Amino acid sequence: MENVTIISHPLIQHKISMLRNRHTGTNEFRTLTEEIATLMGYEALRDLPLKNIEVETPIETCMTPVLAGKKLAIVPILRAGLGMVNGILALVPSAKVGHIGLYRDETTHEPHEYFCKLPSPIELRTIVVTDPMLATGGSAVSAVNFIKQHGGKSIKFMCIIAAPEGLKRLHEAHPDIQIYVGHLDRELNENAYICPGLGDAGDRIFGTK
Ligand code: PRP
Ligand code: URA
Repeated sequence: MENVTIISHPLIQHKISMLRNRHTGTNEFRTLTEEIATLMGYEALRDLPLKNIEVETPIETCMTPVLAGKKLAIVPILRAGLGMVNGILALVPSAKVGHIGLYRDETTHEPHEYFCKLPSPIELRTIVVTDPMLATGGSAVSAVNFIKQHGGKSIKFMCIIAAPEGLKRLHEAHPDIQIYVGHLDRELNENAYICPGLGDAGDRIFGTK
């Protein structure tokens, strides 16, 4: 699929296996989520635009590249997407951070929005939407719809684990955005949980269950 990258780096695969383990506690789960976000971010940000500036080295003056344009916007989907923010900030400390609050209705599995605040001007920024889990794709499609309605144009979506159903739905709804996936899992179960997955990412990051 064009614009879809499954990142198969061994370090990412190793850390995802540790995330899956039901015996991995909250503290380690948070650290692993951040580390995976950093490794995925390195890959997802390899096309950031550059411009040349003049720098005086101890030897001579040279033209050398730095990041160009408005600062990156990281937009986590609350709650679980928050767990990936620091991992990307480790790469781009000056990025702005927006928030989109969505929760899935436990019966219909449809997303409901409860909060949205995006850095302005959003239309001039590269936007990285984070959520560890892409399950039915409902939350991701809604978040990207929302960002586009507010003027967002250059959008990347980063998730740690995707179900085939959710990946297809997001790609079909938004074929223009770049999607980065840590691992493509087998399927969704009857409760719309990813199998084998890692359980409820928000609960595991925040220790709420
Ligand atoms: C989880 C997850 C995604 C969403 C994925 O969030 O973090 O946002 O479900 O499911 P979908 O692809 O079927 O929409 P949840 O709604 O459980 O909220 P939380 O992060 O606050 O726990
Ligand atoms: N949200 C999660 O946190 N985990 C899943 O498996 C599906 C949706």
